[in-house]
This record gives sequence, C-alpha cells and structure tokens, in this order.
Amino acid sequence: MPQLSPRLCEAINEQIKNEISSAYLYLAMSTECSARSLNGAAHWLRRQWDEELAHATKLIDYMDERGVKSEFQSIPAPEFKFEGLLALFEQALAHEQKVTLSINGLMEKAIQEQDHAAQIFLQWFVTEQIEEENSTEEVVEMLRLAGDDGSALLIIDQRLGARTAEANAEEAEA
Ligand SMILES: [Fe+2]
Ligand SMILES: [Fe+2]
Repeated sequence: MPQLSPRLCEAINEQIKNEISSAYLYLAMSTECSARSLNGAAHWLRRQWDEELAHATKLIDYMDERGVKSEFQSIPAPEFKFEGLLALFEQALAHEQKVTLSINGLMEKAIQEQDHAAQIFLQWFVTEQIEEENSTEEVVEMLRLAGDDGSALLIIDQRLGARTAEANAEEAEA
C-alpha cells in the first residue's frame, strides 16, 4: 500500500489534535459537573472523554498501519465556563458540529488525494459523528424540556449517569 500523502498526514495529525482537544474539553466539563454534585452528567462526560481518546488512538494506529509516525501538537487548556447544564450541553453540541466539519474536510482531502483506503477508514468517523451529534442533541432537548424544573433536572442527571461504556466496546471491535 502506498504511503499516506504529506497533505493527508498533516490533516490527520490535525484531527488527532482535535480529538485530544475534545477529550480535554469533556474532562473539564466532567470535573466541573462533579464539583457541583451533578454526578450523572459528570459520568456521561467522562464516558465522552474515553470516546474521544479512543478516536485519537484510532487515528494514530491507522497512521502507524500506513507506515507513518503521528506528530503530536500542543493542546491548549480547554476554554469552558459553567453556566448551567443546558448551556454546557449546547456548547458540547456546537463542539461536535465543528468536529463533524473537520472530519468532512479530512474526507474531502482523502478524496482529492485519491486515497481509497483512507476514505474507507474515514467512513467510520463520518458515521460516528452522526451518533455523537445525535446523542448530544438528545440531552440538549431533554434539558430544554426540563427548563428550571429541579426535579426534572435530577431525573435527567440520573439518566445521564446510566450511560454505559457499551459504545466503546463496539468501537474497539470496529
Ligand atoms: Fe471524536
Ligand atoms: Fe465527539
């Protein structure tokens, strides 16, 4: 198999940075929720941290498979201020939408470089982003419905706490 083009390498390195930055943001959000006794949300966000790290390693492993060593970039501290659970999940959704754009850009480069193997590999990320956006959007919608209703918010927090690592197990198989 031919080596990855330098342009594609650069774009994948950038995406590795994006995934680690996402993980870092979710870790910051999780820690913030934990400090506020929003333990369910903290748990949900910690699962998200796991997922983002898995995305980064998936990219690193793929480059390795293609005979290229990943180049790591600096990761700035996550910029995040707590303004309530709804605002937090809205920020998470906006973040995922940004990530979707960067994944699509990466796929576009693989198409331009006529790297069919990379396109097949990247398809997993395209599909994953649909799930990422949907699951975050679902939480945003629940929180919008709950509004200022404290008992509804407690129920949502409990529900977020029930998130399992099942999705990660599926990812590991993929
Ligand atoms: Fe990701
Ligand atoms: Fe994500």
